[in-house]
Amino acid sequence: MANIVCIGAGYVGGPTMAVMAQNCPHHRIVVVDINEARIAAWQSDHLPIYEPGLDEIVRAVRGKNLVFSTEVDRHIAEADIIFVSVNTPTKMFGQGAGRAADLQHWEKTARQIVRNATTPKIVVEKSTLPVRTAEAMEHILNSNDKGLYFDVVSNPEFLAEGTAIRDMQAPDRVLVGAHTTPSGRKALEAVVEIYANWVPRERIITTNLWSSELSKLTANAFLAQRISSINAISALCEQTEADVTEVAHAIGMDSRIGPKFLRASVGFGGSCFQKDILNLVYLCEYYGLPEVAHYWEQVVRMNEYQEARFVSNMLSAMFNTVAGKRIALLGAAFKAHTSDTRESPALAVCRALLDERAAVVLSDPHALDNARADLGDQAAQVIFEPDPYAAADGAYAIAVLTEWPQFASLDYEAIFRSMVKPAFIFDGRDILDHRRLFDIGFNVYAIGKPPLVHFNSSTPRPS
Ligand code: UDX
Ligand code: UDX
Repeated sequence: MANIVCIGAGYVGGPTMAVMAQNCPHHRIVVVDINEARIAAWQSDHLPIYEPGLDEIVRAVRGKNLVFSTEVDRHIAEADIIFVSVNTPTKMFGQGAGRAADLQHWEKTARQIVRNATTPKIVVEKSTLPVRTAEAMEHILNSNDKGLYFDVVSNPEFLAEGTAIRDMQAPDRVLVGAHTTPSGRKALEAVVEIYANWVPRERIITTNLWSSELSKLTANAFLAQRISSINAISALCEQTEADVTEVAHAIGMDSRIGPKFLRASVGFGGSCFQKDILNLVYLCEYYGLPEVAHYWEQVVRMNEYQEARFVSNMLSAMFNTVAGKRIALLGAAFKAHTSDTRESPALAVCRALLDERAAVVLSDPHALDNARADLGDQAAQVIFEPDPYAAADGAYAIAVLTEWPQFASLDYEAIFRSMVKPAFIFDGRDILDHRRLFDIGFNVYAIGKPPLVHFNSSTPRPS
């Protein structure tokens, strides 16, 4: 039996450790966090995050071999293996502001581990970190006067929110990186052994420490780059009467390209993509590679353009003014099946419409509390309405901003009747039946598709 501790009970730490506990009944796993409210929620019937399948697993293992606690120091002292999944946001001050990773939580955590340890430990980087962070961590951990040696292992997380449980139960691969020294190999094997309880050995890949750290940033950069690429093409589709869904299907059938991550959208969001790419950009600049930095930075710039373009299209379609108009935004989460609103394009659109003085009504099945918190002072100007029908009642326009499947099967005839005419619908996720909506009477604008508009050609159209 090993004593496993995870520091950071967030979107990554919580679900990861729940699945690990379920598959390793012989290990004792403690998830600690400095945030008391968060730990209290993990101990309650209302978990702090919404993630399909998570409730059942937590209920099955909590109190058996999975414990949530705020006693960080005590559990560090007892641990054999410590996973660190504290947040590493984009640094907002000083050198590298807006790009570099802010490693202050990580460094604080490393020092806390040293302070409380009385035995050697394996420290596993779960948080996404810049390449060569492990080196700094090793220096901090091993500059102790207790004669203790700490091995640092990189084990990046590839789970996506909304499918976190499935991704963790049956991962495409698990990546573990460590030094090639005897001690590093031993530490690596200890982490591999944990995953081998449920992941086939051939799916557990091992690399050197730096490859592992860089693979996480690179994977996210490649995924985001596909979205920015198809979104760039969506802008061209809207000018040429090509249909981006057809284009994505046609190119995705090429097995060299593949069909995934080609859904054009209002933009990508989430806590990882933008942060990790900016971090990659900063690293490239740091290592004297401005061309490489510029190349990747465009992925983020294209995403910002796509969000801004969506709002401009709304404005020009609605006669260049939305001031005072009720607009129902369907979706606040950055993607479907999560309550997470970090970097959500829905909130970017919401803020832009508030700047245009629209009367914004935000509707989402799970993410309204987080949206309210993220909007800060601007939340006072927004109506939060979980019922999409009530949100659309009296609205001039609807914009679908999160791909929740339930938004595709609403009774749009009833919604149309309840709206101000001419009624507009903007599909930022291309999940609706546009032809049917047009037949009902809506003016329909979708990403990367010709608009379906009831006006004659002299009426203003989106550019
Ligand atoms: C985080 C990182 O953002 C991501 O880069 C990484 O890949 C995994 O960890 P996430 O779990 O989504 O992702 O972050 P978040 O939900 O913010 O959780 C981090 C938790 O760490 C918070 O609950 C916070 O209270 C806790 N924390 C932070 C500590 O316990 N100690 C600290 O010193 C700092
Ligand atoms: C991502 C990575 O997928 C995961 O491996 C990593 O560990 C963390 O970052 P996540 O951000 O949770 O996961 O969700 P993901 O499914 O990647 O979606 C990110 C954003 O891209 C969402 O806003 C989503 O709506 C958008 N997206 C995704 C598209 O716009 N089009 C697509 O085709 C796919």
